[in-house]
Amino acid sequence: MALPITLTQPGRRSLSLNLHTSLDTTQHEENRVLIILPGVLFIAADVDESKQELNNANRESLDFARGYPLYSEMVMALARFSVEGKVAIVTGASRGIGNALARGFAASGAVVVLAARSAADLQATVLEIQSRGGKALALPTDVTDGAQVSAMAHRTRDTLGRIDVLVNCAGGTGADRSIPLLEMDEEIWDRIVDLNLKSAYLCCRAVGRVMVEQRKGSIINFSSGAGVHPVHGMTHYGAAKAGINLFTKILSMELGQYNVRVNAISPGLIDTATERKWMPPELFERYAKAVPLGRVGQPDDILGLALFLASDASAYISGAIIPVGGGPQ
Ligand SMILES: NC(=O)c1ccc[n+]([C@@H]2O[C@H](COP(=O)([O-])OP(=O)(O)OC[C@H]3O[C@@H](n4cnc5c(N)ncnc54)[C@H](OP(=O)(O)O)[C@@H]3O)[C@@H](O)[C@H]2O)c1
Repeated sequence: MALPITLTQPGRRSLSLNLHTSLDTTQHEENRVLIILPGVLFIAADVDESKQELNNANRESLDFARGYPLYSEMVMALARFSVEGKVAIVTGASRGIGNALARGFAASGAVVVLAARSAADLQATVLEIQSRGGKALALPTDVTDGAQVSAMAHRTRDTLGRIDVLVNCAGGTGADRSIPLLEMDEEIWDRIVDLNLKSAYLCCRAVGRVMVEQRKGSIINFSSGAGVHPVHGMTHYGAAKAGINLFTKILSMELGQYNVRVNAISPGLIDTATERKWMPPELFERYAKAVPLGRVGQPDDILGLALFLASDASAYISGAIIPVGGGPQ
């Protein structure tokens, strides 16, 4: 991630820099200076000025750094929020929230593996990410199929060397959202519970093994308000999402000793094409009025928390189910 920052000191010309928050960068290109902060760290920064002024800028940036002891702490604090260079698998990445997360992670410098069943949709997003300079790979996967999930984990580790983040976003009910239990076919029950609960078991098991070897990783599951509050006709989905909550907490206890964190995001109503397709507009409006922040969420509203949970800034957070719904859940 490159952070645009302007340094100013009274009576001095201000200096515009794009700070690279990755601490291990050793690149030293022509238009890049290394700022040395006394006894703390090196920061690589692109100087937002013409190359002719590089020497001046270089000298000035060193002066600035020496004059700003707090500055190094600020950069280190910001670096902890970075996902730059992290390898992140996002399931359910072909559309909706997962798609927004895949794009957002890539825009934040992560190397993103997009997984879902629709290969064409995944590839279209990968091409878009790559056209903007991001790094992404499509791995078509049915997350309810153990063999496919194992292949996804192995392929990612073999191709990219490690897996830092797993976002288990695939889920939902589609058209089967409101069915009284006495009328629910076994096939529907199995399909919805497999998609929303078994998928987490399969993905966490396959990717968790890699993370345990690495002694580091962050897993982000997807829960729902429907896993806490009863919604009529949603025994299958509600039970699966309630299951995700306890699954997340128990797994966080099992994997904590390996420095692998497991948390869950619990969205309120988020405006995705799937929700629009199956939920009448008047229900959207009613829902928005009941939300303290006065609106239905957008897929990008989930991004901030997902990036935070993926980053080292949340290094001491595990086993948490965190609502993102414009108010309490
Ligand atoms: N939107 C909301 O209001 C809301 C609220 C609370 C919780 N959530 C949760 O947030 C997550 C994302 O929801 P969303 O609204 O973004 O859903 P969505 O738009 O319907 O997208 C669902 C994603 O899951 C993928 N998927 C479905 N079945 C799959 C399978 N067997 N294997 C692999 N991928 C599969 C779909 O891709 P393919 O069809 O290409 O496989 C798609 O990418 C879900 O876990 C949902 O339960 C959503």
